[in-house]
Amino acid sequence: MPDAPTTTEIPEETKDTKSRGALTALALMGVLAVAISWIAGTKVEWGLFLGPLHVVVLHLPLVLLLLVAVLEVAWWRHGGEELRRIILWLMQLSVASTLLTVGLGIFLSRQGGYDAQLVQTHRNYGLGVMWISVIALALLTWANHLENLRLRYGFRATLAGILVLLVMVGHSGGTLTHGSQFFLKNAPPFLQSWLGKSPVVLSSDEKSRFTRDIWPILEARCLKCHGPEKQKGDLRVDNRESLLAGGDSEKPALVPGDPASSLLIQRILLAENHDDVMPTKGKGRVTKEEAMKLIEWIQDGAQFTKATTKEKE
Ligand code: HEC
Repeated sequence: MPDAPTTTEIPEETKDTKSRGALTALALMGVLAVAISWIAGTKVEWGLFLGPLHVVVLHLPLVLLLLVAVLEVAWWRHGGEELRRIILWLMQLSVASTLLTVGLGIFLSRQGGYDAQLVQTHRNYGLGVMWISVIALALLTWANHLENLRLRYGFRATLAGILVLLVMVGHSGGTLTHGSQFFLKNAPPFLQSWLGKSPVVLSSDEKSRFTRDIWPILEARCLKCHGPEKQKGDLRVDNRESLLAGGDSEKPALVPGDPASSLLIQRILLAENHDDVMPTKGKGRVTKEEAMKLIEWIQDGAQFTKATTKEKE
């Protein structure tokens, strides 16, 4: 491995002011990271407007951090003062945009409508990326300042860690917005089984049953409040996993093979003026025939044949 080049010909004075600038930038981002971690622990609520920006802004740190990694490899091979400065500058931008992304993400998570467990996982990975990038920037700043190669290796190690975390944060984020079946549901069966998910093979009768008998009921009676737009009680009816997991009560809304234990059935069978009846009071009623169809469908295993509405963006 060729030695990283050392700086020559930088007048002491300019170098000092540069390092000071870099140190200030680092300190600033450290403070911001503490502030964001603090916000993450409180209940500030003004993110309905800011939150959705998260999904746009997140591409910035992603691209920047990848670029830093590529340029760091280039610098390791070829050296160059110019490149060294660009890397530091890009790393500062990366950390700044990571901070912004994490801050916005925290606001977005407050909006609800997402699987709480997944949000938690995604948030932890996000905070992980944030803190490790701050540490990486600190190592880089000091490596430049002291022209210390060992600190530089430390920077590279943290950078590698960041790349791994980026994959994890991206995966959990994708699962949050698109559902874990986003890619798999349309994959060829051999791919599904190879990836560990046994493909569901349905008789054509079972297939048409959901679309013919069940979906129209859910769509007409429940979707308005439990679909892509609203998730009352933190429940969606257009998604088998959400029904299996249940909503706020954390009781499964759907227990395949056991209609009596399925909250969905319990709640639609309540008296018309009961506080908990579904649809809610005055918002329509599931007819006896419809209830029978739902009960039989659950009795027979409650097959969903396809995702019927668009996922929430
Ligand atoms: C007008 C809006 C509205 C409609 C339509 C509606 N719901 Fe709800 N649903 C709610 C609200 C609000 C809650 C949360 C409060 C509660 O649990 O009563 C809820 C909660 C639930 C829960 C409990 C979730 C949990 O785990 O706490 C189930 C199950 C449910 N709905 C099923 C249905 C089904 C099935 C339909 C269609 C037949 C339906 N809902 C139609 C508004 C609605």
